[in-house]
Amino acid sequence: MSQDYIVKDIALADYGRKELDIAETEMPGLMACRVEYGESKPLSGARIVGSLHMTIQTAVLIETLVELGADVRWASCNIFSTQDHAAAAIAAGGTPVFAIKGQSLEEHWDYLDRSFQFADGPNMILDDGGDATLYVLLGARAEAGEEIIPVPTSEEETVIKAQIAKRMEQSPGWFTKMRDQIKGVSEETTTGVHRLYDLVKQGQLPFPAINVNDSVTKSKFDNKYGCKESLVDGIRRATDTMMAGKVAVVMGYGDVGKGSAASLSGAGARVKVTEVDPICALQAAMDGFEVVLLEENLDADIFITTTGNKDVIRIEHMREMKDMAIVGNIGHFDNEIQVASLKNHKWTNIKEQVDMIEMPSGNRIILLSEGRLLNLGNATGHPSFVMSASFTNQVLAQIELWTRNEHYENDVYILPKHLDEKVARLHLDRIGVKLTKMDPDQAAYIGVAPEGPFKPEHYRY
Ligand code: NAI
Repeated sequence: MSQDYIVKDIALADYGRKELDIAETEMPGLMACRVEYGESKPLSGARIVGSLHMTIQTAVLIETLVELGADVRWASCNIFSTQDHAAAAIAAGGTPVFAIKGQSLEEHWDYLDRSFQFADGPNMILDDGGDATLYVLLGARAEAGEEIIPVPTSEEETVIKAQIAKRMEQSPGWFTKMRDQIKGVSEETTTGVHRLYDLVKQGQLPFPAINVNDSVTKSKFDNKYGCKESLVDGIRRATDTMMAGKVAVVMGYGDVGKGSAASLSGAGARVKVTEVDPICALQAAMDGFEVVLLEENLDADIFITTTGNKDVIRIEHMREMKDMAIVGNIGHFDNEIQVASLKNHKWTNIKEQVDMIEMPSGNRIILLSEGRLLNLGNATGHPSFVMSASFTNQVLAQIELWTRNEHYENDVYILPKHLDEKVARLHLDRIGVKLTKMDPDQAAYIGVAPEGPFKPEHYRY
């Protein structure tokens, strides 16, 4: 069989393997899954198509899924987030992967299509942002002669439609077959989860889904503490700018916004926050951040969107910014910033994923990763330790959907609290955390079992 992967350079595999070896020492949750399930192989028979940033941490996830018995094919969910040495190590290890840092949008959707090409097609999806799920569902709609919108951004719509048309011509009926044989999807991020709940509302989710994002050990850790480390890392690697003393505006104060504001503030920046939600606005204020309107703070030095919403930084904002203002996004899609409306301006590429764009006034802005999530475009995403918590949830979700499929309807589920607590527990030793034990009397007094779960469902952490 001809080579079944697309990576930048397979010779990077050795370097990737060395970094994988280090990452494993920081990913105790995933390593514990290998010990617990390595022999029983609960994922035997599962053919998982993965669409998630092809990083070193993801490589440890992939090798865990394989060790648990799954057949895996992988694509990245973002054109800039792949770490080429990680992809090379995975390809060299025999798992088909299709991902190159800096791939075009056309390649992005072609690579996703290739990751679906198991001999018998996949029967499980592991998604980040919902592209793999979207691909199957839009294709099946097209085969049924239905309209294939909405899609994330208009630029992408044309590309997706072309990719779907190509596959429909090559393999008539393929999308419908794929849709019908997928047993479930586990979704990594806030934006992908929004899409799944929308599908349920429209009665269009054809298989069960586990919302991994809303495990406490995912969104309250990866989205928050992950961004706390990786946002400033991305800005520094891109610009080497002095952070201390600068004024930064963070748009959105959800989990990612909280981590991002903390990241900038930890680096000495003077941070302001914008919000639409009064609860999050109040949280930001009580965490010590001024809550402001973007329109009234366009003289800041750094602007970061974290909202998962669209058109948050608009062209009229960028026109008013001061010379050399830094503009970036850490939310899932690039439509948080109106990058498309900058296309007819003068762009000077500084280096990969860093562009200087001249405004009509003569002022220039520095745009990071063309508005795509900058912590993965300009740096290497979150550190392994926090991704271990996220990905242990992914592994448990895949096992759950694969081995107990009949217990699930075509709806969106969250993993039960005892598994969330298990994920946290698996990460304590590595950082020397000692857990206090309650005696049965104390447990009865606060109304929980001594071994947990320790909180009711409505508790918010
Ligand atoms: P969230 O829902 O907790 O927070 C988003 C916040 O933005 C909300 O508080 C909302 O009220 C606010 N918001 C919405 N529209 C706004 C506007 N126009 N102006 C100001 N504030 C606005 O969501 P979360 O978990 O923080 O995720 C945000 C985005 O980041 C999503 O797209 C998610 O998929 C992505 N994400 C990115 C990660 C990364 O490593 N780059 C990691 C995890 C999530």
